[in-house]
Amino acid sequence: MKIAFAASECVPFAKTGGLADVVGALPQALAELGHSVSVYLPKYKQTRLPDAKVLLRSVTIPFDDQYRFCSVLDGGKRSGVQFYFIDYPAFFDREALYGTSAGDYPDNAERFALYCRAVLEASKVLGVPDIFHCHDWQSALIPILLRTSYEADPVFRGTRTVFTIHNIGYQGIFPPDTLPLLMLPWDLFTIDQMEFWGKVNFLKGAIAFSDHLTTVSRKYAHEIQASEYGFGLEGVLKSRAGSLTGIINGVDYNEWSPEKDKYIVRQYSAEGLQGKKECKYDLLRQFGLESAPIDTPVIGIVSRFVAQKGFDLIEEIGGDLARLPLIITALGSGEKEYQDLLLKLQKQHPDKIAVKIAYDNGLAHKIEAGADMFLMPSRYEPSGLNQMYSLRYGTVPIVRATGGLDDTIESWDPTSAKGTGFKFSAYSGVALLNCIHEALRAFKDQAAWLKLMQNGMKKDFSWTASAREYVKIYERLSPSKPGPSEKVLEFSRV
Ligand code: ADP
Ligand code: GLC
Repeated sequence: MKIAFAASECVPFAKTGGLADVVGALPQALAELGHSVSVYLPKYKQTRLPDAKVLLRSVTIPFDDQYRFCSVLDGGKRSGVQFYFIDYPAFFDREALYGTSAGDYPDNAERFALYCRAVLEASKVLGVPDIFHCHDWQSALIPILLRTSYEADPVFRGTRTVFTIHNIGYQGIFPPDTLPLLMLPWDLFTIDQMEFWGKVNFLKGAIAFSDHLTTVSRKYAHEIQASEYGFGLEGVLKSRAGSLTGIINGVDYNEWSPEKDKYIVRQYSAEGLQGKKECKYDLLRQFGLESAPIDTPVIGIVSRFVAQKGFDLIEEIGGDLARLPLIITALGSGEKEYQDLLLKLQKQHPDKIAVKIAYDNGLAHKIEAGADMFLMPSRYEPSGLNQMYSLRYGTVPIVRATGGLDDTIESWDPTSAKGTGFKFSAYSGVALLNCIHEALRAFKDQAAWLKLMQNGMKKDFSWTASAREYVKIYERLSPSKPGPSEKVLEFSRV
């Protein structure tokens, strides 16, 4: 099948979080299964594309006040996947992808509307896919446009859309006059389409118009259908429950394996763990804590510093943590509130809590390899990737039992010696603290701990299984690859 991915980030071209990892790896897994896959991305300032050929010099994008003209660059083929870049410097040649610490860029609706329209127009020249697989609100206008402005376009008659929700906390909500500005019909401003509390909601439109919806774990697929986790979209999601599938993300083990990691001081494996100690020493050195006893348990954190990730729990128990025999090494960037919180803890307990405010891929790898435990106390976590990376590095995850964290981590049971990590349920500092106590108790029995590490290292979260699940959905939708005919009708245009 011909599958076109549309997303706002992708490793190695631009990344703020796990979406980039997914869009960097899933297309490759689909190509390995024999499909023809292309990926459309915006070309940002940080996207390195030396000597990219211009494929389309001028694509006309209408806005109500003016036309804009973007071009499409050839990003070449990587591991069997073709990359295309939408180039419009006035929108994308900026410091960051979506905004700065001062807030989101005020023209994000125009930026990503231009991107979506450009993807549709470019595909008419470069190859119309069987499936557009779109990700998060930035590409949400693609399924919406295909059912509205492009409804009558004969070239897209056989094209179907799959939309993956990576994080329902980000919806793309804009003032109502965004619709005429983007030349979208006012008909869309209804409660079952894009209207949301008097505003326009891109994600809600994609939920209404995509042929199939997925999200990145089974548990999260259920969670977002209830008010606690649905961010106001639980109702529309429930109404589409029959077309919503949870598929867990995979891991790109070429990037994230201690056997071949090029960022760590010494490679290691489940059979030969000696290198991990050197990685631990190197990690302590990176954080200026090399004088700490090497057998002190080290808890690593790599995270976007945002409310989702549970830092308020760490704030709640900061004093208690500092009294425990452990070291925390945290890497992250994001909202000032959480940066300040961690920096304050570091100041109060400099020999216990070490923090780096940065985006640093090499250091993220060093933390995965060098820490003994990895902490993700998320308020919600659609899939989460770092806990799966941690398993492979023998770095035992301590997680809150939500979304993908709950689906991928099994609680350690010292009696049966089964399990891969530690989980807590209640969103409270006390629950987190108890869970850390449990992990520290387990760490004291080094023979049992080794078994726990090895249980995790043996887990296989490679992309192939998840890619096959996506293919099943694509095939069920596509009129050219019919499954049972009723199914095709069920998902076809309403
Ligand atoms: P999310 O997408 O919600 O941020 P995930 O666990 O899915 O969470 O993915 C996060 C990805 O971003 C991981 O690859 C992680 O290593 C990376 N990451 C997050 N923050 C940083 C940082 N400050 N420096 C380097 N990598 C980071
Ligand atoms: C989002 C989620 C994260 C998920 C990632 C990739 O950023 O917060 O849990 O792993 O998308 O799907």
